[in-house]
Amino acid sequence: MLKGKKIAVYITGGIAAYKSADLVRRLIKEGAEVKVAMTSAATEFITPYTLQILSKHDVYTDIFDEKDSANVSHIHLADWSELAVVAPATANIMAKMANGIADDFATTTLLATTAPIFIVPAMNTHMLGNAATVRNWKQLEEDGHFIMEPDTGFLAEGYEGKGRFPEPENIVETIQSFLLRNQQDLPLTGKKFVVTAGGTKERLDPVRYITNDSSGKMGYSLAIAARNMGADVTLVSASDNLETPFGVQMVSVDSAGQMYEAVFKEFEQADVIIMAAAVSDYTPKNQAKQKIKKSEEDLTIFLAKTKDILATMGQKKTHQFLVGFAAETHDVAKYAKGKLEKKKADMIVANDVSKPHAGFNKDTNEVTIFSTDEEPVEVSVRTKKEVAEEIIQQVIKKMSK
Ligand SMILES: Cc1cc2nc3c(=O)[nH]c(=O)nc-3n(C[C@H](O)[C@H](O)[C@H](O)COP(=O)(O)O)c2cc1C
Repeated sequence: MLKGKKIAVYITGGIAAYKSADLVRRLIKEGAEVKVAMTSAATEFITPYTLQILSKHDVYTDIFDEKDSANVSHIHLADWSELAVVAPATANIMAKMANGIADDFATTTLLATTAPIFIVPAMNTHMLGNAATVRNWKQLEEDGHFIMEPDTGFLAEGYEGKGRFPEPENIVETIQSFLLRNQQDLPLTGKKFVVTAGGTKERLDPVRYITNDSSGKMGYSLAIAARNMGADVTLVSASDNLETPFGVQMVSVDSAGQMYEAVFKEFEQADVIIMAAAVSDYTPKNQAKQKIKKSEEDLTIFLAKTKDILATMGQKKTHQFLVGFAAETHDVAKYAKGKLEKKKADMIVANDVSKPHAGFNKDTNEVTIFSTDEEPVEVSVRTKKEVAEEIIQQVIKKMSK
């Protein structure tokens, strides 16, 4: 989606400046053309030469050092770029931008550009919380610029706090969805998706539960892929270790019962429901209020069947397009076709979780997509992101028929 996009990356003088080399590399990998400008302070942390090699363009550092006598370079870059990314953004450049100061190449070009401006602050946690920075942040947002929240974690200063430069992978991801927000003509614009993800937890007592190996990665990738095609996505997640994708509405749940409630709250308005979560088939009949104490006896736990979310939706559906997942270890095609019919789903994505590159808690998957009145579509081993994109393409194809 960044293919051919002209992006100006402005690197400023923070310790995270070295990470912007990776950011530039990733933007180019996604198909963007990138030109880089650096403040004088940024060149203390990483050399312009590195960015020149990565971007395959001259790097702008000095407003009076014209690269091309036919152009004024800061106006050229301002007009050339379709997006400006300030990453990392120091407290200083945020202050200057918020006040319209133009005293070097980066600030002057940022004042001259009409491209949308995407800012990625990274700084010491106290600098971030300083009243002046808070004021400047607010002003920049009021001026229509987008600011990505910094991460919280271990800072270069040697202590924990908010202010870390987000992972370049997440920045690229957020830039993509930021650009999508203004695009109205995508295949899923106006469609409401509900995606479930993760393995549900069925509590035995306040500290113990029954769960499964699902990481939630497949569901999150599907939510992102649907969002990237313009859908309005609600992610009902039982996974607590993945970052909420930008622009996706998140509903966090624990148990199969909670997931049932959350999904049915969205059911009427939903156009497409993708059940990628590994929902427990059983839940303890009794949940102890206090921690179950060890005794000399064996312990018997009685399990009750949980409500089958997909099958219930299959019975209740009016206009909704239902996608289920079948994680099997044998006779995959047989079970998947059976599930398609029995649950009245429109599509079943089957994976053989006994295969080394497929299924729970992996970054890759290998699936077969079964849908009513269609030949199965085999999706060979690839990343979950790519598998998700293929599934969403198949949903779009099937819905447009
Ligand atoms: C070792 C070191 C690390 C720094 N890291 C940051 C940082 O992460 N964020 C920040 O806002 N300023 C940081 N600064 C301060 C900026 O470099 C300083 O404010 C500078 O004037 C910023 O200039 P610029 O905004 O033109 O790039 C750091 C300074 C030093 C010496």
